[in-house]
Amino acid sequence: MKITTKAFSGILFLLLLSPQLVLARGKSDFLMDPVPAKRGEAKPLFRTQPFLQNPIGGNITISWFTNSPSHGWVEYGTDESLGNKMETRKAGQVVANVKHHKVRLNNLVQGKKYYYRVASREVLLYSAYKKKFGEVEYSDIYEFTLPDTVSSDFMALIFNDLHKRGSTLEGLLKQVEGVDYDFVMYNGDCIDDPENEDVALNFLSFSNNQVNAAEKPVFYIRGNHEIRGAYSVNLNHLFDYVGGKTYGAFNWGDTRFVFLDCGEDKPDDHWVYYGLNSFEQLRNDQVEFLETETKSKEFKSASKRVLIQHIPLYGMGEDRYVPCKELWSDILNSGNFSVGINGHTHSFAYHEPGSLGNTYPVIIGGGPKEKDATVMILRKVGESLHLKVLGFDGSILGEYEF
Ligand SMILES: [Fe+2]
Ligand SMILES: [Fe+2]
Repeated sequence: MKITTKAFSGILFLLLLSPQLVLARGKSDFLMDPVPAKRGEAKPLFRTQPFLQNPIGGNITISWFTNSPSHGWVEYGTDESLGNKMETRKAGQVVANVKHHKVRLNNLVQGKKYYYRVASREVLLYSAYKKKFGEVEYSDIYEFTLPDTVSSDFMALIFNDLHKRGSTLEGLLKQVEGVDYDFVMYNGDCIDDPENEDVALNFLSFSNNQVNAAEKPVFYIRGNHEIRGAYSVNLNHLFDYVGGKTYGAFNWGDTRFVFLDCGEDKPDDHWVYYGLNSFEQLRNDQVEFLETETKSKEFKSASKRVLIQHIPLYGMGEDRYVPCKELWSDILNSGNFSVGINGHTHSFAYHEPGSLGNTYPVIIGGGPKEKDATVMILRKVGESLHLKVLGFDGSILGEYEF
């Protein structure tokens, strides 16, 4: 098609009137001001309350989620005026423009009460040469106390196999009202089969709020159902495991906790996993870990040793796949553990030492249905370690001293 000189001049004139093109012609890239992306007005900036994890060695991790990419930090101190600020930096860069905020406070005084609040401001624009932020929003002020180095007493609540049943957790918590616990352990299959981030975060947030995880640290131990579902690969990133792995050990006072990851409950080559599981290696890695751990000074000098893992090694029935038993039981049986705490079977059980080849008492928590559900209260007082197991109706299923 032939364009006449007159038509060409007209097209040129129209092009020059286009605001975008005027902008592109008139300003260099770094001065351009794209329309900021704002979150939906209906959604608050904070998606979850903050929750505490990994309160070990004078340090603690505070995590929270926002509904839109934000810059977040923690303000903290030994009184409510706070006074200190901590944000996360990686390789020289402040971790901003994220929805998952994870800040570790270091070098805290153990046994001392700290106050904190978290702050976030929405990142409205994060371009190479220009940034825009929303108003800073703050959480309430919360408090926490790291484990004391002088007193070795503690009280902990242990739940397992909630399978995202919020009403079960609420009911169990009614039975422990007034119990002044220091921390909480979720021993697997609590955020089961997470199909997406919303599902995982909704229950994580719910269960954290229920136990006041903004002030009481929570330990998440992986169950086999946390390894299923489309979001399961990402689930681990929501947590801050002690030592950075799904297995490890830590001290609370002079009690040593060893937590293990049994992986799935069927062999890696079972068709249902489609070749995407490789737990054989993970279990073997824990053999090495246990050999080192049980020889360590911290383990040997502990006054009590608590073993916690989701799938029991004992009382599982002859036909069940329990590869961890062959791999780990010799080391565990010679470890002089005070107690082993498990879940997975959905049925409360107590196996006394020597009854099934175990040298330590084994206690298995119940399941998600009200008739099976349990909460454990683990308490160290002086030289004694007590464990009480309560049912959904508050009945005492077992009470032990180690
Ligand atoms: Fe379960
Ligand atoms: Fe399980």
